[in-house]
Amino acid sequence: MLAPFIHTQSCAGRRLDQLEIAALLRSCAGITGQSDETKLAAIMAIFPELPSGDVVEVGGFWGRSAFTLAWLAARIENGPVLIIDPWQAEAALQNSVSELVRRDTRAQDWELIYQGFLLNLLPVARGRLGFLRMTSSDAHRRYTQGPSLIESPPFGSLTYGGDIALLHIDGNHDEAAVALDVALWVKHIRPRGWLVLDDYVWPHGNGPARTGDALLRALGDEAAISFVAGKALFIRMA
Ligand SMILES: C[S@@+](CC[C@H](N)C(=O)[O-])C[C@H]1O[C@@H](n2cnc3c(N)ncnc32)[C@H](O)[C@@H]1O
Repeated sequence: MLAPFIHTQSCAGRRLDQLEIAALLRSCAGITGQSDETKLAAIMAIFPELPSGDVVEVGGFWGRSAFTLAWLAARIENGPVLIIDPWQAEAALQNSVSELVRRDTRAQDWELIYQGFLLNLLPVARGRLGFLRMTSSDAHRRYTQGPSLIESPPFGSLTYGGDIALLHIDGNHDEAAVALDVALWVKHIRPRGWLVLDDYVWPHGNGPARTGDALLRALGDEAAISFVAGKALFIRMA
């Protein structure tokens, strides 16, 4: 599975070896979450090629992909990482899914999930990862009012530069919500930076797919590379 992601002479020394990849996947498997191994392995593969800059994730949940990003930011010396999530049922509710899934979202203990995120991330977060407990649009206002010193107790404070090396959009998957995330955040991705749009392939609705396709059309040649890994769409900016 990992062979297609192990690549290039250009990042030799920075790229992960197989033991590191296996160890990181194993750690992530211990965190409740919805990021599959293939997407995480692809993120591990592109990370050494990123320009320097902020690493931003919309949708942290229990912290499975956030753990990967924090570990990679330390290993490859990039970032800092910013995780955005309100950890609150109302924001997490999605119109496009079945009533069964909506009921499950309402029934979740979002305070417990937030506490679980802190617990899961504490070993790797200090000096590398911060978070904003708010919606993506409120966080965008905060991120762009600069200079962005963000305090994330108990992880400490970090200053964000305002240019994004890697953007992972994995928040509310309703089409309007994904389109808003893309409209707000993609413009901050640096040249040669990457977007990972989760659940481009998704059985519950076509919000991420329609948004991803519209973005690819709008970007044209500005999308230097694009591919699907796991269920996520990866795009590298020119
Ligand atoms: C699919 S989960 C994220 C999965 C996570 N990345 C992982 O690896 O397990 C979606 C998350 O998006 C969050 N979310 C929902 N609406 C949001 C919004 N407007 N802004 C930021 N996060 C949002 C939810 O609270 C939920 O924790």
